[in-house]
Amino acid sequence: MKFDKNNFTVKELTIGEETIRYRAFLNLVYVEKPVNPEYQKMHIFAPEVYYEGGERNGYKLETAPIFMPNQVGGYMPGKTEEPGFSKFEPGKANTIFKALAHGYVVAVPAIRGRVQKDEKGLYNGKAPACIVDYKAAVRYLRHFAGELPGDVEKIITNGTSAGGALSSLMGTTGNHPDYEPYLKALGAAGERDDIFGASCYCPIINLDHADMAYEWQFQGINDYHRMNMEMNEGGRPSFTPVDGEMSQVQIKASREEAALFPAYLNGLKLQDGDGKELTLDENGEGSFKEYIKGVVLDSAQKALEKGEDLSDKKWLTVENGRAVSMDFGEYVKDITRMKTAPAFDDLTMDSPENDLFGNEEINCRHFTAYSRGNSLAGGGMAEEHIVKMMNPMCYAGDEKADKAKHFRIRHGERDRDTSLAISAMLTLKLRNGGYDVNYHSPWDTPHAGDYDLDELFAWIDGICK
Ligand code: DHB
Repeated sequence: MKFDKNNFTVKELTIGEETIRYRAFLNLVYVEKPVNPEYQKMHIFAPEVYYEGGERNGYKLETAPIFMPNQVGGYMPGKTEEPGFSKFEPGKANTIFKALAHGYVVAVPAIRGRVQKDEKGLYNGKAPACIVDYKAAVRYLRHFAGELPGDVEKIITNGTSAGGALSSLMGTTGNHPDYEPYLKALGAAGERDDIFGASCYCPIINLDHADMAYEWQFQGINDYHRMNMEMNEGGRPSFTPVDGEMSQVQIKASREEAALFPAYLNGLKLQDGDGKELTLDENGEGSFKEYIKGVVLDSAQKALEKGEDLSDKKWLTVENGRAVSMDFGEYVKDITRMKTAPAFDDLTMDSPENDLFGNEEINCRHFTAYSRGNSLAGGGMAEEHIVKMMNPMCYAGDEKADKAKHFRIRHGERDRDTSLAISAMLTLKLRNGGYDVNYHSPWDTPHAGDYDLDELFAWIDGICK
């Protein structure tokens, strides 16, 4: 592992009205014994003005927060990336460009993903590879603290969906011994890997309970509508629509998964801000459901305050400019079901998550007792300790994990990739443990991320200054 502070290039880039001049340290392999050097390396960027003694937004070379976005989607490999054009918004700057323009040091690790193999044909990017790599990259930053730009005690991770899951894991699992053998095997630096802040957009987490949460929300709706997304090598998505009706087996799974959720939820013993227990009865009704309705109503309220017309939302009751109540069933019908049941641990093992939980030799495995027991593919089961390492809920209450001081979780109001309950449960679990979580469900927002960078950066500035 090396870092040579004299090995850099200074680049200048203009997008729209904005020009950035920055110092780029490229292709830094962040472990001693990489198994996939192309995906275990990182780029680090800093505003060049910091090397001329200057400041931006009140930050300078040693004090600038280190913003650490990952590029992971679908638990696929995430490449490192440079400042440039956005892949999602033609003509617009990407997040890295905007973060540099704002004055952050930006560290962009590549991260292994579920489809990768070594030269012997063995998979080497299955769980927990992605979170282990992210941690190793943080350890690298700490190892070269002082030589690198930025403040290693102000690392803020960022990601969307599977990448949001990784960011939430970074925030909840700092320095936990579970990951140590994997980090050692790669020759990661002997440093801490806890972070200061975690920004998580629609995190696809709690995979071993996401099926039941999904059916708690979507049960009763049997038609599904999704876009099949393929990520090409350049990381650009392409989409084909798929519409259908769930099979009898899937409808049965929907009913049975929904019935499992109340016991899981009640076992978490979550409380709202007033210390009131959030629970569900056997029909899935109760104070937790009211809490989730509150999240959606807050979302609608913010939209109303921005002057948006929500009168086409028949499930929403607005009185005197206030979103006062909603019909949850009609809301769910309106946003529509995306996934068949079980949504994550698929009975035929066709989901990205089945693939994530493969091992060196086996591509796909189950990771819940329900789907293992009802498997249509005769699949094996992932080890419990591996499933645990991918679930931030397992660490939120574990004292051996050094948590981030601050979390920011965003989960779009019409996201159907995972239930709103999933991000809400992590938020509540962390808040109940005394951690600061800024949580909101932005109105009319699908499964997406980085759509509110001005607000994200204001949040980062608020916690860092
Ligand atoms: C992602 C989306 C999903 O629906 C899922 O199950 C896993 C990952 C993603 O966009 O990263």
